[in-house]
Amino acid sequence: MSSHPTRRTVSSPRRAWLRRAGTATAAAGAIAGLVVASPTATASPSAPAPAEARTVSQSTSSALAAPDISLTNVKGHLNQLQSIASRNGGNRAHGRPGYRASIDYIKAKLDAAGYTTSIQQFTASGTTGYNLIADWPGGDPQNVVMAGAHLDSVSAGPGINDNGSGSAAILETALAVSREGLKPTQHLRFAWWGAEELGILGSRHYVNTLPSTERSKIDAYLNFDMVGSPNPGYFVYDDDRRLEAVFKDWFAAKGVSTEIETEGDGRSDHASFQRVGIPVGGLFTGAGRTKTAAQAQKWGGTAGQAFDRCYHRSCDTTANINDTALDRNSDAIAHAIWTLGAPS
Ligand code: TRP
Ligand code: ZN
Ligand code: CA
Repeated sequence: MSSHPTRRTVSSPRRAWLRRAGTATAAAGAIAGLVVASPTATASPSAPAPAEARTVSQSTSSALAAPDISLTNVKGHLNQLQSIASRNGGNRAHGRPGYRASIDYIKAKLDAAGYTTSIQQFTASGTTGYNLIADWPGGDPQNVVMAGAHLDSVSAGPGINDNGSGSAAILETALAVSREGLKPTQHLRFAWWGAEELGILGSRHYVNTLPSTERSKIDAYLNFDMVGSPNPGYFVYDDDRRLEAVFKDWFAAKGVSTEIETEGDGRSDHASFQRVGIPVGGLFTGAGRTKTAAQAQKWGGTAGQAFDRCYHRSCDTTANINDTALDRNSDAIAHAIWTLGAPS
């Protein structure tokens, strides 16, 4: 969405991770108001069996380490989103053909990887919007770990950092889950939101139409909106201590310092979940705010310049990405999904 006065959302109640024992029920039907539902029976085409070494380590340790997410693959998705925009009037905005084409691109990849996908339709500004929800079959349906990114751009440009970056990073993580044949104890769900740029409308629609029984199964929502800013910072959402720690610890282990995200709490889709008391986490590399000298000192880049000078502009193209930031954040996302998907 466009900027609005910074406000701090009231901290959500901290909830115990495994407070619900629960009988397994089908995770399908977790989404209300679905227009298109395509349970994919065509599982695991391009998903090779996990390597022997990984299988062995899985049986001997509590949690399997996440794979290194391929920057090349993430950038491949960004190239596709860029060409979708270029073919469709230069943007991927809500209500424009480039948005629907973006949804179709992501959905096809997930269907081929064995996800159960659904497109949730809603109306915003008199135009049809779409959320894409992808469930990884298996895991305890009473304990859902969710990751999401908004897929729409502003109408001014192709939206490659905002938010092709988060969209591509969670897509490649989801595909890695499939490739590795991950069998998490928790149920994994990925989402690509529509109409974020019009006021966080798609994710709000999802949360508002989700039956309360389904809402209460979501233990964590992780949001990724702008994770490849060209003059990057490394910001971690601080809503929930456990989720914050998963990211902070990962960056610390890589020797990368992080700061708490303050550029606009509540300015992305995590706000929809936070509002109803679901613990949220996420990563952010900065938008229109200026990088300070101290930040340039520790992160490199240019002090006195915005984290993303092309924020909401036509120049938010594939040239508007810092590869190191995109790679680190993609790997951190995979780490979070692997860690939270099988908590020790
Ligand atoms: N898409 C968001 C927006 O346009 C980008 C953004 C700005 C953001 N500030 C943020 C995302 C803070 C996460 C956290 O408002
Ligand atoms: Zn934006
Ligand atoms: Ca990587």
